[in-house]
This record gives sequence, C-alpha cells and structure tokens, in this order.
Amino acid sequence: MNILCIASECVPYAKTGGLADVVGALPHYLRALGHQVLVVIPRYGWIDGSRYGLRWFHGPMGVWMGDTLEWCAVHVADSQGDPVHFIESQKYFDRPGLYHDEDFHDYADNPRRFGFLTRAGLQLCKDIGFAPDVVHVHDWHTALGPAYLKIWHWNDPVLGNAASLLTIHNIAYQGKYPAEHMNYLGLGWSNFTADKFEDYGAINFLKGGIVYADMVNTVSPTYARETRTPEQGHGLAPYLNNKGENYVGILNGCDYTRWNPETDQLIPARYSAHDLSGKAVCKRVLQERMGLEVAPDMPIIGIVSRFVEQKGLHLLAQCIEGIVREMRVQFAILGSGEKWLEHVFGSLPARYGGRIGSFIGYSEELAHLIEAGSDFFLMPSLFEPCGLNQMYSLRYGTLPIVRATGGLDDTVQQYDERTGEGTGFKFYEPSAHAIYYTVGWAVSTYYDRPQHIQRMIRAAMAQDFSWERSAAAYVQVYERAIQNKRAS
Ligand code: ADP
Ligand code: GLC
Repeated sequence: MNILCIASECVPYAKTGGLADVVGALPHYLRALGHQVLVVIPRYGWIDGSRYGLRWFHGPMGVWMGDTLEWCAVHVADSQGDPVHFIESQKYFDRPGLYHDEDFHDYADNPRRFGFLTRAGLQLCKDIGFAPDVVHVHDWHTALGPAYLKIWHWNDPVLGNAASLLTIHNIAYQGKYPAEHMNYLGLGWSNFTADKFEDYGAINFLKGGIVYADMVNTVSPTYARETRTPEQGHGLAPYLNNKGENYVGILNGCDYTRWNPETDQLIPARYSAHDLSGKAVCKRVLQERMGLEVAPDMPIIGIVSRFVEQKGLHLLAQCIEGIVREMRVQFAILGSGEKWLEHVFGSLPARYGGRIGSFIGYSEELAHLIEAGSDFFLMPSLFEPCGLNQMYSLRYGTLPIVRATGGLDDTVQQYDERTGEGTGFKFYEPSAHAIYYTVGWAVSTYYDRPQHIQRMIRAAMAQDFSWERSAAAYVQVYERAIQNKRAS
C-alpha cells in the first residue's frame, strides 16, 4: 500500500525524543514489507543540507491555509538509506529550536507552523500524484491530517481514498491554542464544537485528531489501557473510549541497526552477551569522561532523558544525594530541558565529584556511551507511553530500574530474588522513597548476588523488540483504518 507519514521529527535529521526514533525506523521496515512510504518532515534551518545530501525535489509549492496561500519548497535526502522529504519554509522552520526558543518557551505560532506542515504534506501528494491508502500522522503536531482529509479532500482524485491513522506518542502534549487560529488552519467554525476541536474555549489539535482519525493507536498496550482512564487520559479518555476497538496499543520497536553493542560505532569498544569485556572498557571510558572515580567494581546508574515532569526526575532530585552518601554507587546523567532541573543536575558534580557526573545538553554519542558503560539505567517516569531507553539498555546489558508504568511495565520483567530471573527492577509508587529503595535493591543485588546480575544481563540482552514485529502490527492497523474508512 501507499503510506504518507507526516511528522515533526525524524532521526538523524531532527530529534528531541523517541518520536524521532520511531519516524526514522518504522518506514524502513514498512518498505521491507513491500509498502511505499512518503515521509515528510520540516526542513529546520539548522539541518545540515550538505551533510545529508539534501537536494531540490519540488516547488515552489502553494499551500492554502484558510484564505492565505503559503509558499514553500520541498527537498529530499536519501544518503542515510531511506528517502525523507523536507518542507522548506523560512518563515516557519528557520529557527533555533523545534518547538521552543532557548528559554524553553513555546513558539507562539506553533499551531500555524505544524498546521502548515500537515497541509503541505497532503499538498505534496497532490502535486506529485502519490495517492496514499493511509495517511499516518504523529502526535498533536500533525493531528489535523485526518480532519483535513475528511473536510477538504474527501472527493479529491489523489487523496479521496486515503484512510488515516493517528499515533499518540504522548497524550500530555495536546496542542491547545487560542481559537483565533481557526481561520488560518482552515478547519471551519462548524468544527469548533466540544465533540470535535473545541476544548474549554481553545482549539485542541489532538482531540480533533482522535475524533477524525479512522484508527488511533498509542505506543504500548499498557499506555493504551492507562489513557482510557480519567487519571491518565489528560482529559481525553472519553474520546479514546468512544473509539472503542479503534484505539489500540502497539509497542514501539527498537532500532537494532543503531542501538546494538555488537556493531555500535559510537562506543569505544564493542561487545556481546558472550564476551562482555568491551563493556568494561566502555565503563572505564564513561567514568573518565564524566569525571567519576575510575572503579571497575562500583556500579554506575545511567540516565539519558528530557528533563520534564513526565520523567520523574524531580523525585530523583529529592533522594540522589542520600543515595550517593549511603550507597557505593555512581551516577552518569545526560539531559536537558526545564532550567531548574538542569541547574539541579548540573550542579551536583561540584559537590559529589567522583560519584555524580552530569552533562547538560544533547549528545547522541554520550547517550550511547552511557547505555554501554553503565550497569543500571534509571527511568522513574510518572508516565511513559513506551520509552525507548529501557529497550536500548536491555540490549546493552544495562539493567533498567523503572517505574512500572506504560511501556516500561510492558518491556521490563521484575527481578525475582529467589531465582535470579528477570531483566530489571520495577517499583510502583511515584515517590522519592520508592526510587531510593529500589536503587538500594539493585545496588545490593550488584554487590551481594553478582551471579543473579550476570543471569539478568544475559536475559536482558536476549530480549527482542525488533521493528519487524511492530511494523507488521502497524500494517494490520492500516488495514483496519482502510476498512473503517470504506464503511463510513
Ligand atoms: P521521550 O520520547 O519521551 O523523550 P523515549 O525514551 O521514547 O522518551 O526516547 C528518548 C530518546 O531521546 C532516546 O533515544 C534517548 O536516547 C534520546 N535522548 C533524550 N535526551 C537526550 C540527550 N540529552 N542527548 C541525547 N539523546 C537524548
Ligand atoms: C514519546 C513518549 C515515549 C515514547 C516516544 C516514542 O515521546 O514520551 O515514551 O517512547 O514518544 O513513541
């Protein structure tokens, strides 16, 4: 089938989180199953065109936004293997950040920027005659796609047969904006009602997307169940429940072409479950790099994360000093986001030199080194739609310590102290106490039951969350979307 995928991020070009990993990987595996996939993302100004061999593809392309005709150009790059198309609009995408400025403030015109991206993706199909069977949109940014199809393109020769799938990677981000953007977005005021886009006087992109999409999914079975409840649906549970069986959970895959210690070129030494000596080299390099005491026998807890409330790092901030004072353990922390969390984690190494190392910023290479060089990987998330880092950790033999929520619960098996079975350490309560005690459990296991740790490492590295399986599940959901569209 023909699939149009429109998204705001895609590795290796533009990434703030796991969405980029998914958009970078899924199309590849869909193509391997014989499908045609057109991937469309913004050409953010800082994407290095010469590095990726970006070249002119199409344009000038006119895109109607309400009564306004916007112009843009389309570029393509395929030097990384799979082709990706880029919408170039200086007005909207030539800025330092993807969604916010250096002070972490959202760009005020985000609804216009991403509404435009979505319509541009659809327009590209029309201009080049690519007739999608399914339009696959991701998160609030492109959630208007299903509505545009049904409002504007229902009898279009190219787009008229397209069904739609909305994937929710994170229901906390819904894209709520002042109603004044309705005209520009071209949704028509008849859609500004409580059963569609209206939400307490504002426009809610994700809500309208859920209502209009032929199928909706999220990125793990447990998160699909959780988001159907008032506690975790962030106000959208009734709309998800209305979808009935047309709202499902598909666990993300893990891209083992990028995240595999046997082939990873970003780490100082490669290793496998049969020979872990390379992991010890990675650990030493990580300790040196992060200013930690070089001690092969002291466990390191790694963290790679966006610093936002979702990730529960404010809870860790409450107990991390107690942990390093009372346990013989080190932390290697990488992340960026909210300024106060950057300050907290950025200032700890000065006080706990040798025991806590941190790097505030974004570094692909350091993320790989932390995965490889650490003994444990901590994710105390308040909620986690899927989470990719714990899957990477499992493959790198770095045992996850996670809160049992969403995809974390689906992918990590609890350690059984009697048998040594399991792949990680899980806790349930979202509190500093629970983090403290579970870290204590992992650290004491490391020192007192090393044979269990070895067994868990082997079990963890043998886990297989391959994209082949997830891509096949997506194809089934595309087929259901097509059936729903035909039946409507
Ligand atoms: P989320 O999408 O909510 O941030 P995921 O676990 O799905 O959570 O994906 C996060 C992805 O972003 C992982 O690939 C992780 O390695 C990466 N990442 C997050 N913060 C950083 C950072 N500061 N530097 C490098 N990679 C990061
Ligand atoms: C989101 C979620 C994360 C998920 C990722 C990719 O950013 O927070 O849990 O893994 O999307 O689907």
